[in-house]
Amino acid sequence: MEKFDAIIIGAGAAGMFCAAMAGQAGGRVLLIDNGKKPGRKILMSGGGRCNFTNLYTEPAAYLSQNPHFCKSALARYTQWDFIDMVGKHGIAWHEKTLGQLFCDDSAQQIVDMLVAECEKGQVAMRLRSEVLGIERTEEGFTLKLNGEDVQTGKLVIASGGLSMPGLGATPFGYRVAEQFGLKVLPTRAGLVPFTLHKPLLEQLQVLSGVSVPSVITAENGVSFRENLLFTHRGLSGPAVLQLSSYWQPGEFVSVNLLPDTDLDVFINEQRTAHPNQSLKNTLAMVLPKRLVECLQQLAQIPDVTLKQLNGRQQSELLETLQNWRVQPNGTEGYRTAEVTLGGVDTNELSSRTMEAKKVPGLYFIGEVMDVTGWLGGYNFQWAWSSAWACAQAL
Ligand code: FDA
Repeated sequence: MEKFDAIIIGAGAAGMFCAAMAGQAGGRVLLIDNGKKPGRKILMSGGGRCNFTNLYTEPAAYLSQNPHFCKSALARYTQWDFIDMVGKHGIAWHEKTLGQLFCDDSAQQIVDMLVAECEKGQVAMRLRSEVLGIERTEEGFTLKLNGEDVQTGKLVIASGGLSMPGLGATPFGYRVAEQFGLKVLPTRAGLVPFTLHKPLLEQLQVLSGVSVPSVITAENGVSFRENLLFTHRGLSGPAVLQLSSYWQPGEFVSVNLLPDTDLDVFINEQRTAHPNQSLKNTLAMVLPKRLVECLQQLAQIPDVTLKQLNGRQQSELLETLQNWRVQPNGTEGYRTAEVTLGGVDTNELSSRTMEAKKVPGLYFIGEVMDVTGWLGGYNFQWAWSSAWACAQAL
């Protein structure tokens, strides 16, 4: 039976990086994936340009039942360390917005970089490989693969979450945790568009494709200021994706469609300058015309001139545009979600090494555990940081 110092299951972001670092430190490492090629999510990420980290990475950008868990790894392998590695591989990048770093050229460069780092560490990579069983032995673990059995002292689970089954996502990591008696917290889709109830969805259909700057707030007070996109299924865009991770079924969200305008002041000024101007044309100066027309058809905007607009109508208008309360029907689910919230309970793991406290030699890294970042490169940074912390212990 072939023997390894470490076997890593999942050749995604975390698995490849961990394998490379452990291999370069001198270990005999096997990296296993059930897919045809490594890093499938990386290739799809950031619209094909991979938003590989965020300049403003900090623990506050992560959701977890234990918000302190991510601190150690993020502090020991930072966004600057990864940017340094990207630079050493000659990959050109740019900041798009809000500290989000993307490849100038293609996400393939990040996969190529990780493959090159694995080769440098002489990592053995087995693709299209299923793990049919894991057994604990005196030496560590024996894995039954399709075709052979392999042995290892240390086993790292880097099989990711449930988002996008089309890209190879499976509940494998949760099953392994359960096999070894580790708690797995309930999972749900995160960074995912909202769907809307039928009547509202039908009313807003005409807005499909309209994007507006917004501030969107969850019932727990968390809010994001980014663009909101109306779609034929509901609401999307970065503001909505971010908020979806903080939303629970049944809750309302409130949307400010004019976060940069003091609407009261704006209307009063316009009324003084152009009293006979229609309210609709006035609002079309600060909002997309299609949105204004749709709201007028829904009787949310009165069909009046500015001099006809009375005080009550003006306050109702402010409420409609700056505190629009929407109750999503649900989310689009794992099919389109970028991440999975929940997963292996971090209380079961060492925040320094990612090793299971109850099962020496067993490690979990990346998205499989209950650490989920905001949109904007934070999830890849968690994959790099947790993988690096783990690799130091292999
Ligand atoms: P990841 O999912 O990358 O890898 C898991 C690997 O395990 C896969 O290769 C899979 O095939 C393998 N696997 C699963 N089950 C297995 C089994 N039973 N046996 C063997 N192998 C198995 N984040 C970000 O920071 N910036 C971005 O731009 C994006 N963009 C983005 C776009 C899209 C479309 C998605 C779906 C997600 C993103 N993300 C993102 C999130 C990011 O991709 C995600 O958080 C990381 O890939 C997680 O890295 P992991 O290595 O933990 O899992």
